[in-house]
Amino acid sequence: MFGKKTAKNDANGDLQDIGLRIASICGRYFLKSEHLHYGYWPPELAVELNNLPQAQQRYAEFLKSKIPASVKTILDVGCGTGHNASLLLDCGFAVDCVSPSDALSSATRDSLAGRGRLFQSTFESLDIDRKYDCILFSESFQYIDLNSAFENLTRFLNPGGVVLIADFFRVPAEGTSPLSGGHRLNKFKEALAKSDFVAVSEDDITDFTAPNLQLVDEALQQVALPSRDLILDTLRRRYPWSFAFMRFWARLLFNQKLLKMEYKYFSGERNADNFKKFKRYLVYVLKRKSEA
Ligand SMILES: C[S@@+](CC[C@H](N)C(=O)[O-])C[C@H]1O[C@@H](n2cnc3c(N)ncnc32)[C@H](O)[C@@H]1O
Repeated sequence: MFGKKTAKNDANGDLQDIGLRIASICGRYFLKSEHLHYGYWPPELAVELNNLPQAQQRYAEFLKSKIPASVKTILDVGCGTGHNASLLLDCGFAVDCVSPSDALSSATRDSLAGRGRLFQSTFESLDIDRKYDCILFSESFQYIDLNSAFENLTRFLNPGGVVLIADFFRVPAEGTSPLSGGHRLNKFKEALAKSDFVAVSEDDITDFTAPNLQLVDEALQQVALPSRDLILDTLRRRYPWSFAFMRFWARLLFNQKLLKMEYKYFSGERNADNFKKFKRYLVYVLKRKSEA
């Protein structure tokens, strides 16, 4: 271990780990893809599940295009299955990974195949004495504590180095967002302004990442919802008394949570249009103010 976990990270992290592990198992089996990110969907690429690996490959290429030629060493923070790291290693970079996930660590080690180190830790608790030319966050910055993020970046970034952040942020919009996740964009900008860093480039790729939500919505409406209804119907018919008893207690104890889950996953609102309304997917290259 290269850092200690906090109780809060343990509680949230377990659920997140399971979700990511399931996504990685499904991706690997059904799509032959190891990536855990949204992908990059140019207009000419049809939004179909079969095209997700191609969109994810394009995203990896887009990320690579943002890395300055001077970069030799990369720290991939929140590396998921380590697939981005593996592609970057193939391109000749020296890459190490940070991942707090127990569930993903064997997949990460497989991707690295001994070519880079895996520091099993959160970024907040990372305790290493190495520095890198580039610190990469691919859809992982939203999990990092904003209060300590920039201080830690200073610790692990070589002079002249860059921070590459590709992630979505929450923006103000009317109504309640059915999509969770992301730092508030104004909070991120405030924290950035107070830090030693400055953005040298900002790309808005919301329109190119939102199509992923169309696939998520289709999967929820066409697979998860009918499967859920079928299971509940079968239980209701086979075990009417036990079912009624369980439903009574579930509604009494967890009604708000159940309604929230129903809205979030099965209302059809978890879609590309709402992603564009409530989120901004931004790719930032940051440098130290003194070096920009
Ligand atoms: C959506 S996945 C992205 C994975 C990968 N970077 C990619 O682009 O496919 C989010 C990643 O962030 C990691 N993560 C979550 N909290 C973290 C933290 N506090 N410090 C470092 N990584 C974290 C998760 O374990 C997971 O690997």
